Amino acid sequence: MSTGTPSSPLSEADWERLRTAATEAMAHAYAPYSQYPVGAAALTEDGRLVSGCNVENAAYGVVLCAECTLIGELHMTGGGRLRAFYCVDGQGSILMPCGRCRQLLHEHRGPDLELMTTSGIRTMDQVLPDAFGPEDLLR
Ligand code: THU
Repeated sequence: MSTGTPSSPLSEADWERLRTAATEAMAHAYAPYSQYPVGAAALTEDGRLVSGCNVENAAYGVVLCAECTLIGELHMTGGGRLRAFYCVDGQGSILMPCGRCRQLLHEHRGPDLELMTTSGIRTMDQVLPDAFGPEDLLR
């Protein structure tokens, strides 16, 4: 849960830990249809590491992106908000989250969420500007 106090800065070691965890998660992908494994990892505001891999289905549209299973683990391990996020493809290279998953990450972001992207470290607002969110439902 966000406390409103500034988060401590992320270190090179934090990003390296995330890259390693995302790459390990990618090795668990179930992607027999696309042959495109994806892994994702995130740090929560309270310092937990959560990760996920894509899980495909014979009914192609039923695919779960790596971010979906990561968010499942987030909730299964205590919930809270995301502080840092990293996603990789089958080569271990940085992968941009798809549009749907940007929305998913937005829902679970902490105020200081940083994402590793192909153009460097970015904020949620940079990756999904003018986002629709829970507060829109209250208007
Ligand atoms: N994929 C993800 O897991 N996350 C993304 O953000 C982009 C796409 C997966 C879905 C599908 O299993 C495969 O990549 C090819 O689209």
